[in-house]
Amino acid sequence: MKPIISPSILSADFGYLARDIEMINRSEAEWVHIDIMDGVFVPNISFGFPVLKYVAKLTDKPLDVHLMIVNPEKFIPEVKALGAHTMNVHYEACTHLHSSAASDVYKRQMQPAVTINPATPVALLQDIIQDVYMVLIMSVNPGFGGQKFIEHSVEKVRELRALIERTGSKALIEVDGGVNLETGARLVEAGADVLVAGNAVFGAPDPEEMIRQLHEL
Ligand code: DX5
Ligand code: ZN
Repeated sequence: MKPIISPSILSADFGYLARDIEMINRSEAEWVHIDIMDGVFVPNISFGFPVLKYVAKLTDKPLDVHLMIVNPEKFIPEVKALGAHTMNVHYEACTHLHSSAASDVYKRQMQPAVTINPATPVALLQDIIQDVYMVLIMSVNPGFGGQKFIEHSVEKVRELRALIERTGSKALIEVDGGVNLETGARLVEAGADVLVAGNAVFGAPDPEEMIRQLHEL
């Protein structure tokens, strides 16, 4: 199975955002990855709902929303109003992950996904793996695009694949941070279903062609 490709618009040229979204629309990418940061959960601020409203108007591709914010459960209605497909919340930001990340998101007819930081072990997902549509493994410390891939992430994908098989969960495995043709190939081999790529796509001479090559991994 080809991996799902979710280009991250964090690396797009915000002066030409419509042009960059149109490139994603033309491309083989299945999803659009959207990074929301609050300057508290992560040491950076990206963009918020007013910008996203326009992104949502410019594409029909499913929106893969990654919330790097504290108390993400407070924003479930706003994320739904955007027409998001997937709502990714961080394990580290949710005290009541089962009720907020799983049940409430699902009730709003979005797909609930849980994200883990590089220092958070896969084993902690054991009691939530049946209730989520997807797990997002961060392969960099969240907050910035263009960072170096953390090697241990490949092993985490293998561990998560084993947990999913052992429990009969149907969760997809997504990986985000430092994904390119080289790291992407190893992640897919380890069991990743979805690749997020920011810098690798928007830093490429031909972004659309890069998406095509990532898709072939
Ligand atoms: C980082 C974000 C990523 C980021 C990935 O905190 O969650 O989605 O855009 O960028 P690259 O692919 O450049 O590492
Ligand atoms: Zn992200």
